[in-house]
Amino acid sequence: MSQPDRGFYIALEGIEGAGKSTVAAVLCDLIADAGHNVMTVREPGGTPTGEKVRHVLLDPDGSVAPWPEALLFAAARAQLAVDIVEPALQAGTWVVTDRSVYSSLAYQGAGRGLGTEQVRAVNAPGLGPTWPDLVALLQLGVADGLSRQQVPDRIGAAGHEFLDRVAHGFLVLSESEPERFVVVDATQPVDDVAAAIWKVARDRGSHG
Ligand code: TYD
Repeated sequence: MSQPDRGFYIALEGIEGAGKSTVAAVLCDLIADAGHNVMTVREPGGTPTGEKVRHVLLDPDGSVAPWPEALLFAAARAQLAVDIVEPALQAGTWVVTDRSVYSSLAYQGAGRGLGTEQVRAVNAPGLGPTWPDLVALLQLGVADGLSRQQVPDRIGAAGHEFLDRVAHGFLVLSESEPERFVVVDATQPVDDVAAAIWKVARDRGSHG
């Protein structure tokens, strides 16, 4: 039997409150309607190891310095890539992730000031080929995002200036990798946000 075409790996990104998980559900329906197998994952988490790391990272009472924070995100992500994402893509399944390595580049690289290239360098070895094919940046003003946020976690509670740096980091990334990014206005109705992402994914994700 011939190998199935590799699936397509879509990351939903943006600051807190951009509505990524709601958009993920609608986007998955569109992908499934087009006849693809599709699954969702979230970061940090998605594996038993990753969920434990998630707890350490997001505990509002915890204390994690910037580099350990970046390395823990990278560790959880590498486990998810090896256990779940890469096998799914190899089986032809499309994967929609709520956050990805690009969150680390924006939050730890730009937000914490570790440098996006340095953070990219510590993530790349654990991910190998499992890098998002398409990154959908859900654009939203920081004040809007904060007002939509429910209970802030340790990182989301870091404040307006921090999230300004994160939002700017995402924008710079989208401009430096235009072939990988689609930027979508997250203040639109969720169906419109998902449809805009699907339109690009459908074109870029079809294998001839
Ligand atoms: P989460 O509960 O997934 O919330 P949301 O995506 O709705 O904001 O929280 C994840 C938090 O971790 C969020 O504040 C962003 C942050 N984060 C990073 O700082 N770096 C990363 O690499 C990832 C994946 C998340």
